[in-house]
Amino acid sequence: MYNPFDPYNTKLSYIEKKNEILYSGKAKTLFKTNDPYVLIQHFNDDATAFNGKKKDVISNKGIYNNISSIIFSHLHFKNINTHFLGRLNDREMLVSRVDIYPIEVVVRNIVAGSLSKRLGIEEGKIVNFPIIEYYYKNDELDDPMVISDHIFGLGLIKDFDKSTLELITNLAYHVNYILKEFFEKRNILLVDMKLEFGFEHNRKFTVLADEISPDTCRLWDMTTNEKLDKDRFRRDLGGVEESYKEILNRLL
Ligand SMILES: Nc1ncnc2c1ncn2[C@@H]1O[C@H](COP(=O)(O)OP(=O)(O)OP(=O)(O)O)[C@@H](O)[C@H]1O
Ligand SMILES: [Mg+2]
Repeated sequence: MYNPFDPYNTKLSYIEKKNEILYSGKAKTLFKTNDPYVLIQHFNDDATAFNGKKKDVISNKGIYNNISSIIFSHLHFKNINTHFLGRLNDREMLVSRVDIYPIEVVVRNIVAGSLSKRLGIEEGKIVNFPIIEYYYKNDELDDPMVISDHIFGLGLIKDFDKSTLELITNLAYHVNYILKEFFEKRNILLVDMKLEFGFEHNRKFTVLADEISPDTCRLWDMTTNEKLDKDRFRRDLGGVEESYKEILNRLL
């Protein structure tokens, strides 16, 4: 089986970080390495919300967001194809380079956030089955929600066909099933999450990519329903660092 810690049956120690940035995003930086198919995902301490309109620095947030490494390694061992190759250190993970599909896939198990607002349904309602939504990744348009007919009827995305949308949708359901159980064992409710997928040219298939962390999931304590995720930052609830740390501690 493909081994994330030894992807090419050689030691990953041959990987050297280059001082060349491929992409500098709001919460992380992607560095190139001496292998064109391998990148280093570096989590920084910046917190942003509402498409960058709200900004702050939260100390150690980058370290807590590397929770992503723990989650991706769990998914790997559950046979999900991901970009994860290994955890490098406190703030960095090694990933394979992919072309990200400009679609964010949101999976919801409990009503919260924009769904609650848009349809006037109280936060906390358990949905009858996981709800999937697609958002078109486009900063100028503020990542609008789209349906399949928008994507294909308008030819929104080059080289993206219905079978790929079906594939990433099925992967999203599967990842949700695995992670819901993973978090429940740690007394955490997986309310919803945002997933990104991409095409890996090396192995020539679609993989789960980007990050999965309290920045990209809504996570509530199962006993008290206390929010332990980015909503603490979005809604100025305080205790952002403490909540992220709590999630990390429960995952270790
Ligand atoms: N394995 C990968 N290969 C290439 N790009 C990746 C990979 N994993 C994540 N990315 C991309 O890296 C970028 C940096 O992440 P970050 O979350 O900081 O960006 P962002 O500012 O939120 O921008 P975006 O709106 O594109 O997510 C994202 O656009 C993400 O899609
Ligand atoms: Mg992002």
